[in-house]
Amino acid sequence: MKKTTQKIKIVSILGLGTMGHGIAQVFASAGYRVRGFDDVPAVRESLHSRCRDNLKAMLAAGLIGQNSVSATLSQMDVFDSVEEAVDGAQFVLEVVREDLAMKRKLFLFLEKCVSPSAILASNTSTFPMSQIADRLKHPQRCVNMHWFNPSHIVPVVEVIPSDKTSPETLASTMELARRLGKNPVLVQKEVPGFIVNRVQAAMIREVWDLWQSGIATAEDIDIAVSGAMGFRLSAIGPLQVCDFGGLDVWSTLFKQLTPLINSGSCVPDKIQSLVDGGHFGVKSEKGIFDYTPESLEQKRIERDRHFLELTKLARNWKATVPNPA
Ligand SMILES: NC(=O)c1ccc[n+]([C@@H]2O[C@H](COP(=O)([O-])OP(=O)(O)OC[C@H]3O[C@@H](n4cnc5c(N)ncnc54)[C@H](O)[C@@H]3O)[C@@H](O)[C@H]2O)c1
Repeated sequence: MKKTTQKIKIVSILGLGTMGHGIAQVFASAGYRVRGFDDVPAVRESLHSRCRDNLKAMLAAGLIGQNSVSATLSQMDVFDSVEEAVDGAQFVLEVVREDLAMKRKLFLFLEKCVSPSAILASNTSTFPMSQIADRLKHPQRCVNMHWFNPSHIVPVVEVIPSDKTSPETLASTMELARRLGKNPVLVQKEVPGFIVNRVQAAMIREVWDLWQSGIATAEDIDIAVSGAMGFRLSAIGPLQVCDFGGLDVWSTLFKQLTPLINSGSCVPDKIQSLVDGGHFGVKSEKGIFDYTPESLEQKRIERDRHFLELTKLARNWKATVPNPA
């Protein structure tokens, strides 16, 4: 199994948008030859400059040395077609927009033009690989590899096999993630949303409920969740939070609180009225909060600086989850 990972030298990244450009950068930083493609020429042309900005911020944070900037950029090439981008690749990662029909079509095409020994992976946030690869002759080489935004910084990736994924494909993908300096988590059964997005959706549902019920302001909800829950979670996972808090305490809390919190499946009224009014968040400069281009840029810089500081801590952090009882 290790042999397959050692053979991976050339990686193809299809889709170089929000996620794809950072993913390409991580592979290039780890010494892989990266061949990228995006169907929008401007996105292809800006790959190097976007990665350069990321790398400069990492350099300023002391996470990489000066030489790494040019070394990383020189490992990446962009091409004008999928065929060229996947030529010679031993690992292909699809990072196009979240559209099942588009992903299925792309995988069918990849099956024809990518070497049979190469792994085909998808960064989809929601679609199980069994759906994306359902018409493929060789679904055993397909696997989901789910990264988090900003992909060049967040240390965890989820790896999700379908029931057709071969043990070799799975082992190679897990090993590859480790070689990239990521912390791969195996999701043992396909489930929509995998781990993180399911947990996040449950939390965000309650947050919207609290806000639209007028329990607290949007600012205070963000401060409370980020400064208490988020702060704690940056050091220990939620199940260990339960152990530290006391399972007797959590048992009582479940009985008393869970019947009272939101379990609905509707879009919250407040989010729908914002969306109907054309307010999509930072992309339209208005969502729950208002933004200007300057305030947004400032917020992004602060956010990424914070993430980079956490990255320094995370480099020393090993999964400290003990064996379950
Ligand atoms: N944004 C996130 O926070 C996030 C997190 C994890 C996973 N994802 C997943 O990653 C994937 C990409 O998301 P994103 O946020 O980077 O989207 P994005 O819209 O920023 O980027 C997608 C890119 O794919 C390109 N594209 C579309 N069709 C293509 C095709 N057929 N061939 C090549 N390029 C094509 C687009 O031009 C665009 O640049 C989605 O599946 C999404 O669900 C996103």
